[in-house]
Amino acid sequence: MTSRGRLVGQGREAEIFEWGDGAVLRLMRDPAGGERAAQQVEAMRAALEAGAPVPAARELIEVDGRPGIVMDRVDGPALMDALARRPWTLFSVARTLGELHAKLGTIEAPADLLEQRAFLRMKISGAVGGALPDPLASWALEVLDGLPDGDRLCHGEYHVSNVLATPSGGVVIDWTNVTRGHPTGDFARSVLLTAMGEAPPGTPRIITMLRRSLQGVFNGAYQRAYRRGLAVDDGSLERWKIAHVAARFFEGIESEYQALTRYLEARAPRSA
Ligand SMILES: Nc1ncnc2c1ncn2[C@@H]1O[C@H](COP(=O)(O)OP(=O)(O)O)[C@@H](O)[C@H]1O
Ligand SMILES: [Mg+2]
Repeated sequence: MTSRGRLVGQGREAEIFEWGDGAVLRLMRDPAGGERAAQQVEAMRAALEAGAPVPAARELIEVDGRPGIVMDRVDGPALMDALARRPWTLFSVARTLGELHAKLGTIEAPADLLEQRAFLRMKISGAVGGALPDPLASWALEVLDGLPDGDRLCHGEYHVSNVLATPSGGVVIDWTNVTRGHPTGDFARSVLLTAMGEAPPGTPRIITMLRRSLQGVFNGAYQRAYRRGLAVDDGSLERWKIAHVAARFFEGIESEYQALTRYLEARAPRSA
């Protein structure tokens, strides 16, 4: 038995602790998250077996009544931090992010993994009645119904903070939102996430503008690298983005509601 060591990271879903010899413990916040934790382990193993750079998942355990995944510790900063320290590496970081993502999109997902479209449907339906107006939700659900299923591994939260930089290349962590589905659906969410991050309030206007244009350059380079590895139909990409924007309300980030609503209203037919 190993004891919980130093806290090395935390987010909405989990806390990450050092865990003995070269390992970390990803301890879920939700005590009822055991089944999803098991799916994460399965997905990480499928990715590793297919040759993708993913920390080896060692075992599924329970600590203080919460499910946890013990996995290999990766030594290296997130691509986000590597980029902040060495901004001139923007193009090579974007290329790494895109190439790796395209590779993940070719891997067959375990058969019993949560379905991507079912996951999106659950989030959109769960957001109705709150900040997501009903007509926009119904329209987004219709758009989602017209999109295809798939059997590929979809990470679900793929962005610069969930890929760690090591001397041998990027390593993909944080498989909380993994599903089985269509790669373009997964790409759509990453394109949106890559475009989103805002500068903290009070940042001088010139810096905000510079940051926004660099973000655009980075997003373009990421997309080009991804598309060299996997074909993307642009019409489908736009439809997947609509579903993801509607589903985003479910995450309850109030500061985003206005922009999300504007995004949907600009694309919805007049009747929605
Ligand atoms: N296998 C790992 N090896 C080393 N550090 C890790 C590992 N997994 C997570 N971390 C650290 O914990 C942080 C949060 O982990 P992550 O899995 O992304 O959870 P969250 O859901 O909180 O975003 C990461 O940014 C990283 O610093
Ligand atoms: Mg993360």
